[in-house]
Amino acid sequence: MKILIIGTGYVGATTAMVFAEIGWQVTGLDIDAGKIERLKKGQLHFHEPGLEDLIAKHVQSGRLRFTTDKAAAIKEHDVIFLCVGTPSLPDGSADLRYVGQAAEDIGRLMKGYKLVVTKSTVPVGTQEQIKKWIEAAQQTAYPFDVASNPEFLREGKAVEDALHPDRIVIGTDSQRATEQLKKLYWSFSCPWIVTTPRTAELIKYASNSFLATKISYMNELARLCDELEVNVKEIAEGMGLDPRIGPSFLQAGLGYGGSCFPKDVSELVTTSRKHHVNLRILEGVTEVNRMQYAYLLDKVRSRLSGFAGKTVAVLGLAFKPDTDDIREAPALRIIDQLLLEQASVQLYDPIASLPGNAAYQAVKFCTSAEDALKGADAIILCTEWPEFAQLDWKKAKKLLKQPNLFDGRNMMDAKRLRALGYYYQGIGSGY
Ligand code: UDX
Repeated sequence: MKILIIGTGYVGATTAMVFAEIGWQVTGLDIDAGKIERLKKGQLHFHEPGLEDLIAKHVQSGRLRFTTDKAAAIKEHDVIFLCVGTPSLPDGSADLRYVGQAAEDIGRLMKGYKLVVTKSTVPVGTQEQIKKWIEAAQQTAYPFDVASNPEFLREGKAVEDALHPDRIVIGTDSQRATEQLKKLYWSFSCPWIVTTPRTAELIKYASNSFLATKISYMNELARLCDELEVNVKEIAEGMGLDPRIGPSFLQAGLGYGGSCFPKDVSELVTTSRKHHVNLRILEGVTEVNRMQYAYLLDKVRSRLSGFAGKTVAVLGLAFKPDTDDIREAPALRIIDQLLLEQASVQLYDPIASLPGNAAYQAVKFCTSAEDALKGADAIILCTEWPEFAQLDWKKAKKLLKQPNLFDGRNMMDAKRLRALGYYYQGIGSGY
């Protein structure tokens, strides 16, 4: 079996790497010629630890190739994975334009049986829609199957997650498709869930929304912890030892960002409303997350008696460490608000950069954390990059105008910093 991956973004590039690692012949197809040219040289257009090396290895071995030639690629491959983007529309639902385009291309250009597998996160019912799109575009009724096979990759850990999945979910009505997919993933020994397309699609949304729920729950609890002078980290530790709860995704902070959680929670809420079901818990999850950045900013504003004329050092821009992704990053909301209230902003992130638009021209983008701290009235830590914990905070204090440290990720040792003379506040750090 030869595998075609349509869409060579984050999901597509990782999926291509996985199948090449397993031993299959894989082709990546994209309409973006620039991306394809780089990938042909084994270069990645985004930051993901370890992925570029594996892609380069397989480009060199000849197991992985890249192309922009749709017609030849669709004709030559039996199994096609859809890994195109599904951004949010203004009403919160997923934009299926790229999925629709790929399905239409497949229908129009196929010359024999195809198995079309969706990796992209798509709303419940999309497999049925893909079937219709392909049929509508076909001139000859060649047979095909569709299947949903959602990914559960974390940015920054995509290689590890993709090569050691904790489950493989397959949603299809076709026995032939199930057998083919089992063959494709022959080397993986994790649990399998073989189910209907709708179930597979919903498993992905339900998983991401549940993780987002854990985070918002802890973030709301953190506010209570501040009032009760209790540390939310200790609460999380005590809760996490219960195996029914588990220790992960209990870190209170500035809230979740990234390309998945905000988009997936909002899509699930929108789809549910269309089916006359109000997911009240998830509506609350979104609301808590939307306002979490403001909770920390309130603390900073009150400490500084307003932002006008003050200099604020923002450490970290990416929505989480080990990525340069700034989509839905809480740091951006913080910077927007600081600028609106006429603070001078000095920003540092090890790899992420600001969007090139005029709104951010006033931000001083620094090349080191120390640089960003110079003359600052307060520091706001927005991303838990390990290098921030390793900074020489004793020396750093001398660079500051006022030693105010607001830790949006609860990553620092509060006691130590207070002993060094910092005014330290986390989110739910208790006092
Ligand atoms: C997520 C899912 O984990 C993954 O399975 C899915 O396929 C895509 O979405 P990702 O967006 O890469 O992955 O990031 P993740 O590590 O899950 O973190 C998401 C956000 O939640 C980040 O902004 C992170 O800072 C935040 N978070 C995470 C918390 O605020 N607290 C936590 O305890 C954990």
